[in-house]
Amino acid sequence: MLAEPTAEAGTHKGPVLAAPVPGSQTSGVSLPVLVAAEVRSLLTPADVSGLEVTWLAASEATPRGPWVALAPLLTRRLGAAELAGLPALRIVANVAVGYDNVDVAAARACGVVVTNTPGVLTEATADLTWALILACARRLAEGAALVRSGGWTGWHPEQLLGLDLAGRTLGLLGAGRIGQAVGRRAVPFGMRIRYVSRTAKPEFEAATGAVRTDLAQLFAGADVLSLHTPAAPELQRVVDAARLATMRPGAILVNTARGDLVDEGAVAAALQSGRLGAAGLDVYAAEPRIDAALLAAPRAVLLPHLGSATEATRRRMAALALANLRAVLAGEPPPTPVA
Ligand code: GLV
Repeated sequence: MLAEPTAEAGTHKGPVLAAPVPGSQTSGVSLPVLVAAEVRSLLTPADVSGLEVTWLAASEATPRGPWVALAPLLTRRLGAAELAGLPALRIVANVAVGYDNVDVAAARACGVVVTNTPGVLTEATADLTWALILACARRLAEGAALVRSGGWTGWHPEQLLGLDLAGRTLGLLGAGRIGQAVGRRAVPFGMRIRYVSRTAKPEFEAATGAVRTDLAQLFAGADVLSLHTPAAPELQRVVDAARLATMRPGAILVNTARGDLVDEGAVAAALQSGRLGAAGLDVYAAEPRIDAALLAAPRAVLLPHLGSATEATRRRMAALALANLRAVLAGEPPPTPVA
């Protein structure tokens, strides 16, 4: 159950704008804010000082009321209806780098700032991406299952043969912070890098030898295709049956970005037919539900959205979300507003 904040309910944003800086020792005023209950133990007392926090569990609906700020998990959908129920809201400080759970246009229309947590999870997410690339290329899930089943009968020269990565091509759909970090890790593995991005990345190219290409060539040329772009409307299900059919037989697909980028049924079918060599997926279109065909597909390494899941990274994400929240309530520019 939600505890109601004890502060006076604000009915519009005017008085809240004039409120003192949260945490100010002189103001004596605390501001009612909603923060995802699941990040509570990741925060320090300083992160929340001066704030009157209502801890909002992911299982609870978004309440209506006088809260001036909200720091939600990526699983909380915030559209016009939810925003209308929070008339004093000034900021949605998403505790995630992705913010497709927030209707940014609706927030802007209500004068609500939206922020995310870029930068602090880049390396952890790139590491997890590589865990999936390696798991797929070297058939780790099948090997681990074989050992656990008790069915391993000993070394065999043709057992669970995988793919050498050296000399192969890594295709990056998206070359922002995370895509580039994944690309940098490919260099010591001896991989060529091709990438698709709205803008050229000359420093990334100079550091890694990466070459910018177009979508058709990316799909056709990649031995490993890794997705690192937000699920913008024009990229919904960009990995569909038609594009999968253009990929190299036996290629590997990895997705640590957003599930909406992939037609899960088409990926399952491509795994069943052997067209795709393997798929390493950390994200799904309707989390936590996973397409039954995908669950049944061979050579699918399926993780439960672990991209940024290290303790230090999750602490940094929570702290950055609260820094954004505090900045906006103090009338300052937030460190990481969404574009
Ligand atoms: C995780 O998926 C994030 O967007 O931070």
